[in-house]
Amino acid sequence: MTWAVLLASGKGERLGAELPKQFLELGGRLVIEHSLDLFQALPEIDAVVIVVHPQYLARLEELLGRCSRAKISAVLPGGATRQQSAALGLQAINATSGRVLIHDSARPLVTAQIVRSCLAGLEQAPAVTATIESSDTIIEIDNDGFLQALPDRSRLRRVQTPQAFDLELIRRAHALAAKENYHAAGDDCGLVLRYGLGRVLVVPGEPANLKLTTREDFLLASALLNRE
Ligand code: CTP
Ligand code: MG
Repeated sequence: MTWAVLLASGKGERLGAELPKQFLELGGRLVIEHSLDLFQALPEIDAVVIVVHPQYLARLEELLGRCSRAKISAVLPGGATRQQSAALGLQAINATSGRVLIHDSARPLVTAQIVRSCLAGLEQAPAVTATIESSDTIIEIDNDGFLQALPDRSRLRRVQTPQAFDLELIRRAHALAAKENYHAAGDDCGLVLRYGLGRVLVVPGEPANLKLTTREDFLLASALLNRE
């Protein structure tokens, strides 16, 4: 069985809008509806768990009252960090084995092809992440803000979601993190690496699968939606 955990427990502080960005409108639907509708439509996904900011639980329930919720198996309040929200979502999965896709609701332009690449990747490794190349050179700075290192761009990737996992493995990773009181992971593959639990396969995402963070990202996303 294949589960999806949809993360929507952030507050969108960098955007600073009235509502968290997943509840803003984009191309005639709310941001969170884009990924939710895709997961509902994809035969590869059997059930969806949504983790939402506790303050916006009622708003999400109201939204779900208006759209198809056939695959939704749980809606629950998230935690203080993305990692804690993901851990709570994984706990809410009513199974001991299977596959799970973890996705940021702030990436509404995710496509069936990216989801399929991630799930197909699980045949080669127990953890998979979508990534894209960076067209900008990426540098590392020191504590004073001066250039410290210039990693070879051909070896760098920008991490996106979805990420796909063997359910037992990613649960183990989160359990180990909780045990050492580590809550700051920016993504779930990072935990698999941190605890040496298995290889993480890198598969192609898409440049359009951007994470809405700023006002400019909304402008870009809405232009990308109109292109189709
Ligand atoms: N997220 C979450 N729980 C948190 C923090 C983040 O479920 N405690 C989710 C967000 O809803 C988002 C994804 O993780 O879909 C990526 O996080 P980010 O882009 O940082 O979103 P926000 O935390 O909402 O934005 P900001 O950091 O600007 O406040
Ligand atoms: Mg955040």
